[in-house]
Amino acid sequence: MDSYTHNSILEHGHGHVLQVEKVFHMTPGVGENSYSHNSALQKTVISKVRPVLEGIVKALYSKENFPRYFSVADLGCSSGPNTLIVTYEMIDAIVGLCRETGHSPPELTVFLNDLPSNDFNTDFKLLPDFYAMLKKEKGNDVGPCFIAGMPGSFYGRLFPSKSLDFVHSSYSVHWLSKVPQGIKNNKGNIYMGKTSPHNVFEAYLEQFQSDFSLLLHSRADEIKLGGQMILTIIGRSIKDPTSRECCLIWELLAKCLLDMAAEGLIEEADIDTFNLPHYTPFIEEVKTIVEKEGSFVIDQLETFEVNWDGNDNEENKNYVFNKFTCGQTVSRCFRAVLESLLADHFGEAIINDLFERFAELIGEHLSMEKTKFFNIAISMERK
Ligand SMILES: C[S@@+](CC[C@H](N)C(=O)[O-])C[C@H]1O[C@@H](n2cnc3c(N)ncnc32)[C@H](O)[C@@H]1O
Repeated sequence: MDSYTHNSILEHGHGHVLQVEKVFHMTPGVGENSYSHNSALQKTVISKVRPVLEGIVKALYSKENFPRYFSVADLGCSSGPNTLIVTYEMIDAIVGLCRETGHSPPELTVFLNDLPSNDFNTDFKLLPDFYAMLKKEKGNDVGPCFIAGMPGSFYGRLFPSKSLDFVHSSYSVHWLSKVPQGIKNNKGNIYMGKTSPHNVFEAYLEQFQSDFSLLLHSRADEIKLGGQMILTIIGRSIKDPTSRECCLIWELLAKCLLDMAAEGLIEEADIDTFNLPHYTPFIEEVKTIVEKEGSFVIDQLETFEVNWDGNDNEENKNYVFNKFTCGQTVSRCFRAVLESLLADHFGEAIINDLFERFAELIGEHLSMEKTKFFNIAISMERK
């Protein structure tokens, strides 16, 4: 092998080790393929958890005797409108409570956290209009609000000790810090699948256990005693890690890659060495890790489903199923999330073709069966 070929295989493909913290980011900006434009699914998830979030923020704020300063963080905020929806919901809950009780509003600090390669600029550009909207809508009922970015991995310390009252995260903590080790034998799969060898399931679970414990441990240092955290993640309702609810979507994506390999567009060996840094835990696995780590006590654990097509929700009364449109919506949503990881491994050139195939396959699938993601929202208090 000459050195050019060798280097390009290392740059992409089977010799390459994915560095999640450096590479992973949602598609930036506000263009057609951006996360900003393709995050309806995640928006639906946030709206489902809104009642829990409001209840907790109100209870916490009044329990803490209406403090003058209230400090919150959103972990894995990404870029685009969803980021500020969560911030708005928290402010709305606090303002509502202050109005009800006659207390003056607190000074709020909101930290938007994500990996350093996140498009924070898109978020920051939304801030002037957001502040203006708050002032217009809430007038003097909203106190000073300071929104800042905090780049870094949530699998480690991000904030000063005992500085946060409340931490929120939606659709982020199912992303692992790295691809589990020792799963080179996961051939033909890009995640846990029906044909994965047993060690693959063990390696994924171990990586999740270690990452999730580290997240809890890091936040335990940063959240004040009695402070709260809500995490919403994709998971599974049954123990079997090959259950369709968590594996099917990845099996369809793997099929598109395998079809491309059969046509000589990519190397099959590259598929064999690509595995997602992602885990969909069983509810009991989440509970056990929280209990074992020991810094938090679980207050509520709710589960709910959302349709693969994020536009297919209760609020969208005019929704009509269309194979082509739905396939495109789901595919674009996945592209906005995965493009950076896939391009890093297979190269940029395959992305359009891959997601066109994926859109077609998803459309076909959804025309036969409405399919949903299973989600877990867990709220906990710092002991
Ligand atoms: C699907 S997006 C969800 C974004 C937003 N919360 C929403 O609901 O629309 C997942 C986000 O988690 C971020 N993320 C993944 N791993 C992370 C880590 N270790 N530390 C910080 N952010 C991380 C990703 O960069 C991405 O922006």
